[in-house]
Amino acid sequence: MSFVVAIDGPAGCGKGTVTKIIAEKTGLVNIDTGSMYRCVALEALRRNISSENVKELEKMLENLDIKLINNNGNQKVLLNGEDVSKDIRTPEVDSVVAKFAAIKAVRDKLTPMQRKIGEKTDSIMEGRDIGTVVFPNADVKIFLDCSLEERARRRYKQNQEKGISESYEEVLSSIIERHKLETEREIAPFVKAEDAILVDSTNMTIEEVVNTILQIIKEKKLKNRMD
Ligand code: DC
Repeated sequence: MSFVVAIDGPAGCGKGTVTKIIAEKTGLVNIDTGSMYRCVALEALRRNISSENVKELEKMLENLDIKLINNNGNQKVLLNGEDVSKDIRTPEVDSVVAKFAAIKAVRDKLTPMQRKIGEKTDSIMEGRDIGTVVFPNADVKIFLDCSLEERARRRYKQNQEKGISESYEEVLSSIIERHKLETEREIAPFVKAEDAILVDSTNMTIEEVVNTILQIIKEKKLKNRMD
């Protein structure tokens, strides 16, 4: 049996950075499931398929090949063989991805792919429904929260560093809109699993969040060894 750490958290809560550092320190493989939903959104944008056109989407999903390659802690995302690691992180994809992630056919395609990876790899898997749907029996479940304003501030700063010009207000309103879509959708809504441990990163540094989660993982591993 593999060891799975589920980290569920919203956009801009520092989840990606924290997960990457923990993967480096523990040797767990970092699986960013959001990047898979981003691939679906990117491919649909490229083919001009709207999120309402479920028939076309289903056809598109049949031949969609997504691979997450880990080299030295850096995850490369391959969509039908093409490296799209950068293309999936544009404001265009940001603004539509939550709509595609709410579609049953999309989740029915990606959830089994994620389970297959986690079943054979000791991993730290990040997303929105890992602890509730993908791996309800994960060894460790973390719900990483953060206020909407702080998330917008962080995302705005990241965008600036990447040269993406969006105002703070635009970033905040897109974060609020996505949050609403993700928490209110019918299938696999973004909610805390009852048995997940809440870590609120609003007033914490990255290092503090990393150390808190590392401690939780360590305790769980010790417990597993004693059982
Ligand atoms: O974590 P992220 O912002 O890269 O995720 C992109 C989108 O995919 C976001 O709208 C939430 C959605 N998502 C999801 O519904 N379930 C997951 N397990 C991971 C991401």
